Amino acid sequence: MTEETAIVTVEAGKLHQLIKEKLMAAGLHEAHAEETAKHLVYADACGIHSHGAVRVDYYAERIAKGGVTIDPEIVFEKTGASTGLVHGDNGVGQYVCDEALKHAIDLAKESGLALVGVSQTSHSGALSYYVKKAAEQGYLALAMCQSDPMVVPYGGSETYFGTNPIAFSAPRKNERPIVFDMATTVQAWGKILDARSKNKEIPDTWAVDSQGNPTTNPHNVNGLLPIAGPKGYGLMMMVDILAGTLLGLPFGKHVSSMYADLTEKRNLGQIYLIIDPARFTDVDTFKENINRMVNELHEIKPVEGVQQVYYPGELSQARYDKYMTNGIPIATPVYDYLVSETIHFNQYGGKGAFAE
Ligand code: NAI
Repeated sequence: MTEETAIVTVEAGKLHQLIKEKLMAAGLHEAHAEETAKHLVYADACGIHSHGAVRVDYYAERIAKGGVTIDPEIVFEKTGASTGLVHGDNGVGQYVCDEALKHAIDLAKESGLALVGVSQTSHSGALSYYVKKAAEQGYLALAMCQSDPMVVPYGGSETYFGTNPIAFSAPRKNERPIVFDMATTVQAWGKILDARSKNKEIPDTWAVDSQGNPTTNPHNVNGLLPIAGPKGYGLMMMVDILAGTLLGLPFGKHVSSMYADLTEKRNLGQIYLIIDPARFTDVDTFKENINRMVNELHEIKPVEGVQQVYYPGELSQARYDKYMTNGIPIATPVYDYLVSETIHFNQYGGKGAFAE
């Protein structure tokens, strides 16, 4: 592999504006571009570069080709005292899923608990964005979503499930929420994309090549590996059932591919479980106990070479605070694309799942 790609530091407000303008140039309405830009800047500021500005080029091509509904009719259908479905009409994922989250929180406010599915959405980005928002309003939140089939099932040599992520957040007393957010693969596909954009080697535990052999070259990836073998494989199946089959959507290898046909809508599924802790316990005690848990974790003696035990999301939050103040590191090719006039039409479409 050649030298790693250079990084440029971009002020958060400027990055937001560049992303928003590019998405509007591709055809999105301002409110949808605004929410998507907010989400992508959040991801880059947290250090989740796999789900930040690196995605704009692909999103813009899909939007420009009609693979995202520009004027979606987003409909909330309440299906029971604490259940509902948001029909996203394949609008841009970050906007649809943010709207769906508002409905889920309103329902949890009413009934104490909400299980809300989002049917027919586009790629929704980093799931921590949504669960953290719910926890900031005092709720516990779980989110899961489908993604395109890129993972070799345990013992298999062909891809079947997506990287199907799970995110969870819980509120704390006078502190920011704990946030756990992970793909059910050793690494999210976006991490491979990020490594590609930086021309950087990956560990041989992340993915396999076209022969099913472990690879360290991100450009040769042809299948991702589940976390913890059969356990991760089981988890990604659970996510697909809850965020896909349960909502009447395509499942497993039938889930639409990110790069196959960018003129087609994605029809993806996402699901939220929102819980009002007041329906189960004393809220102050609950939040204090989460604080206590964090403190006790911080007091655990770290192993040699590790500075400290962190709670999930702690490092992302620290990065967010730093980058929002000092600027966000962005791979130079991503930045160059954002400041250019370009909207690609043949960069991503009509390719296999692991296209460059
Ligand atoms: P990751 O491997 O970077 O992090 C996983 C979790 O481990 C996070 O909660 C993180 O806070 C925690 N963590 C990391 N280092 C830690 C440490 N030293 N101590 C304690 N906790 C630590 O995440 P991954 O799996 O690469 O996922 C990245 C993003 O990709 C997520 O935001 C996920 O939602 C998103 N994603 C989205 C998809 C979509 O289709 N919308 C598909 C797949 C992933």
